[in-house]
Amino acid sequence: MTELKNDVYLRALLRQPTTRTPIWMMRQAGRYLPEYRAVRAEAGDFMSVCQNPELACEVTLQPLRRFALDAAILFSDILTIPDAMGLGLYFETGEGPRFQRPLQDHASIAALPIPDPEQELRYVMDAVRTIRRELKGEVPLIGFSGSPWTLATYMVEGGSTKNFAKVKQMAFAEPQSLHLLLSKLADAVTLYLNAQIAAGAQAVMIFDTWGGVLSPRDYREFSLAYMQRIVDGLTREAEGRRVPVTLFTKNGGQWLADMAATGADALGVDWTTDLASARAAVGERVALQGNMDPSMLYASPQRIRDEVKTILASYGEGHGHVFNLGHGIHPTVDPEHAAAFIDAVHEFSPAYHR
Ligand code: CP3
Repeated sequence: MTELKNDVYLRALLRQPTTRTPIWMMRQAGRYLPEYRAVRAEAGDFMSVCQNPELACEVTLQPLRRFALDAAILFSDILTIPDAMGLGLYFETGEGPRFQRPLQDHASIAALPIPDPEQELRYVMDAVRTIRRELKGEVPLIGFSGSPWTLATYMVEGGSTKNFAKVKQMAFAEPQSLHLLLSKLADAVTLYLNAQIAAGAQAVMIFDTWGGVLSPRDYREFSLAYMQRIVDGLTREAEGRRVPVTLFTKNGGQWLADMAATGADALGVDWTTDLASARAAVGERVALQGNMDPSMLYASPQRIRDEVKTILASYGEGHGHVFNLGHGIHPTVDPEHAAAFIDAVHEFSPAYHR
């Protein structure tokens, strides 16, 4: 394998010394970039881009050509696993993801197969291998998956939801069915992430987008317990380096100490929690990633620069901070504003690493 030229992101995740704060953006490849929209239009739909390793590689690299980012993230989706389990993923324009065959009952959960990543999800592993080759060691590649709870919300609801009625009904009225589903998903995610690592992913991130809709007790029972199982089963070293794992529960600011106790290397933080209090909660145990409100990218470049300064000061001196947005970049953001954001992190962060 080619030597890694920029390891600032991997070092920061492990709280090792760096000369500046690394930066990448959630959903950095996507519709706010005209060059992404062109590939998407050519391919027809989003899943066709994901399933074509050359196109997935191309859109993964697009933001790196424009901006001085410190990591690439695999272009794919968290819903590839449920699709490979046979639920039939499709995207209705403007409606978000949908499943043709959402889970209805215990029997359909019991019958769910656990996908072999190099078979049913081979297109993802081929994308990882292609991207690693084309990155030529410039920056590390992040692999990812959804958390079992977040995947289960889509599988039981049949798509996006506002009140989580069906999946919470299952949680509270038929907990044994939901636990069976979460347990299968934890196995599937562990295999999937380990296969991504074997294919060349140099760090992995677990997106628990919907853990924050649960009560503290239910969060531990239905989300955190299954992320713990994944962390315990992950390959933690490859190519002679540690493979850091980042957990991100959106709206999970009150549970950071519990999340740190899983043994993850880093935690994602959204903008509803101050980095200073997040750091106080986790101490020296984990690195922190975040946490600018993605909507701040609608402000003027000057306002964005000021916000970057505020967030750097909030984390404070020392290592272990990966700059990011607190959630995905919005499709209507001006790429010039993203550039101002990234440049500001490069300009102002070295002062915190002396
Ligand atoms: O960050 C990156 O650049 C990597 C790509 C990535 C995508 N989805 C591409 C995508 C990642 C890491 C994801 C994760 C994902 N997918 C999550 C967890 C993170 C989060 O955002 O909370 C979730 C919940 C999903 C499920 C999903 N996929 C939804 C709800 C949607 C529709 C939302 C939308 O913006 O339309 C998708 C589609 C999707 N995934 C798009 C992209 C670029 C938009 C597809 C398109 O129209 O081109």
